[in-house]
Amino acid sequence: MRVFVAGASGAMGSRLVPQLVEQGHEVIGTFKSPGNLERVRALGAEPLALDLLDPAAVRSAVLEARPDAIVHQATALANLRWSRNMDRVFAQTNRLRTEGTDALLAAAREAGVRRFVAQSFASYRCARVGGPVKTEDDPLDPTPPAGMRESSAAMRYLDDTVSKAGGIALRYGGFYGAPNDGWADLVRKRQFPIVGNGGGITSFIHLDDAAAATVIALEDGAAGIYNIVDDEPAPVREWLPVLADALGAKPPRRFPGWLARLFAGDVAVMMATEARGASNAKAKRELGWTLRYPSWRQGFVTAYEVTTATDRGAGLATQRSGM
Ligand SMILES: NC(=O)c1ccc[n+]([C@@H]2O[C@H](COP(=O)([O-])OP(=O)(O)OC[C@H]3O[C@@H](n4cnc5c(N)ncnc54)[C@H](OP(=O)(O)O)[C@@H]3O)[C@@H](O)[C@H]2O)c1
Repeated sequence: MRVFVAGASGAMGSRLVPQLVEQGHEVIGTFKSPGNLERVRALGAEPLALDLLDPAAVRSAVLEARPDAIVHQATALANLRWSRNMDRVFAQTNRLRTEGTDALLAAAREAGVRRFVAQSFASYRCARVGGPVKTEDDPLDPTPPAGMRESSAAMRYLDDTVSKAGGIALRYGGFYGAPNDGWADLVRKRQFPIVGNGGGITSFIHLDDAAAATVIALEDGAAGIYNIVDDEPAPVREWLPVLADALGAKPPRRFPGWLARLFAGDVAVMMATEARGASNAKAKRELGWTLRYPSWRQGFVTAYEVTTATDRGAGLATQRSGM
């Protein structure tokens, strides 16, 4: 297929493009920052500068490229900083998830594009009632904390609009697998504490597994929503010390809930103490997807082994691999 990947230069797009090329697809890869042209070309795609928030530019880019399929992987999360008002931090990404999705879908209709897949998110979104792990059919949180209401609404919009249009929304877990993963730096600096009982559940996914699921969904998936997460949704109190160790950082600090609420806000406390995780049963069953990194337990160690060993001195990698 001729595949138009919007956001080919990002964390996800840059893992996806090589896998698509390896499967024999021809890829047009878009980027926003001018410096990324050669990066996209090196991934194996035909590079194209595009601002997804310019609907006229999206229309002509898609009509000209004449793809069989479109994958929307555009977000604006580079240099993300924690804030009690995450809606402000996510404002541009929310526009990419609403206006950007609309522009791509309109262009797709006009160009007769047959397949459409878009990036969504799995963690922290389900109603905070009942069991710890939720499926795609479980209700979303009707009352997200102030500070993430617009972001929740934008993700819901993307899920609904894409699936109603006959496309696929992939609710990815928290990405990891790159040396510059967003949360790795916070954990290295001990700025990511265990709050309260640390019972909030997170679902993770290694970038390579997420890209593999995306290729399958694009080629064969039925319209709808799929959680693309690993096999082990886990509470913060379990995964955070393992991540800190894998990164060669000191163990995480512990903060009481009231103090975290005061300094970091309601969104942080919800994620740390109440959030529900996501089940990958549907994606495995319906897409036939298998994971190379079924759990963050092994995934974190593999992902950060090289950087950590470099940081600590050459001996550690040898120690960890038991040689
Ligand atoms: N599920 C998750 O956990 C999740 C999801 C997304 C991101 N993240 C994390 O957030 C961090 C940053 O993500 P990232 O590296 O993918 O960078 P990013 O800044 O979120 O960019 C993603 C892609 O969208 C493109 N883009 C940005 N604004 C655009 C616009 N207005 N129009 C069209 N395309 C636009 C970018 O192009 P340029 O690069 O050329 O500007 C890039 O190709 C990473 O650590 C990543 O792992 C996590």
